[in-house]
Amino acid sequence: MEKLNGKKINTAVFISGRGSNLRSLIKHYNKKKSPISIKLIVSNNSKAKGLIYAKKAKIKSHIENFKKINIAEKKLLKKLSYNKINLICLAGFMKILSKKFIKKFNKPILNIHPSLLPQYKGLNTHGRVIKNKEKYSGATVHFVSSKLDSGKIILQKKIKVSKYENEQTLQKKILKVEHKLYPKAIKKILINL
Ligand code: GRF
Repeated sequence: MEKLNGKKINTAVFISGRGSNLRSLIKHYNKKKSPISIKLIVSNNSKAKGLIYAKKAKIKSHIENFKKINIAEKKLLKKLSYNKINLICLAGFMKILSKKFIKKFNKPILNIHPSLLPQYKGLNTHGRVIKNKEKYSGATVHFVSSKLDSGKIILQKKIKVSKYENEQTLQKKILKVEHKLYPKAIKKILINL
């Protein structure tokens, strides 16, 4: 990977829905002195609520429906290169990027997942955690590899699951943790960019 030598890191955030992590990243990085500049928001879903945060912050957004993944990824790679994107942050992006895409982009792609990976990969993490009466859960930021929720872990935060927790309360609790963890994880990898 090329070194950026102190230049701002142009970042794209990929979303599919609510966008609360996007909102927190914008809040964190939409500052003059920030080492990161969020240049592009990508969504596979034109109705994603999170797109409103892009609009509010006057960040370009791009909708790419992933019906034909090959074509979508090719178009996306062009878009990313045109916008000189050096870092992708997946934040609730519900599509799986192909091995080819990851290889061709050839720069870091990060993801946030609401569990203590490698436990509880995939969907419905909170429901499964409650069902299994786990004492702890948490959130993880990791590099994206071609296997779902499996790349190298950058940061993880553990929280206690109380006896009275349900899916909603746990989700709320972990989301709060996520909003702090993602910027921290980005900071951690910045020194290597
Ligand atoms: C978060 O829990 C994230 O960890 C997971 O999807 C959810 C997205 O939430 N990958 P939001 O769209 O950022 O509010």
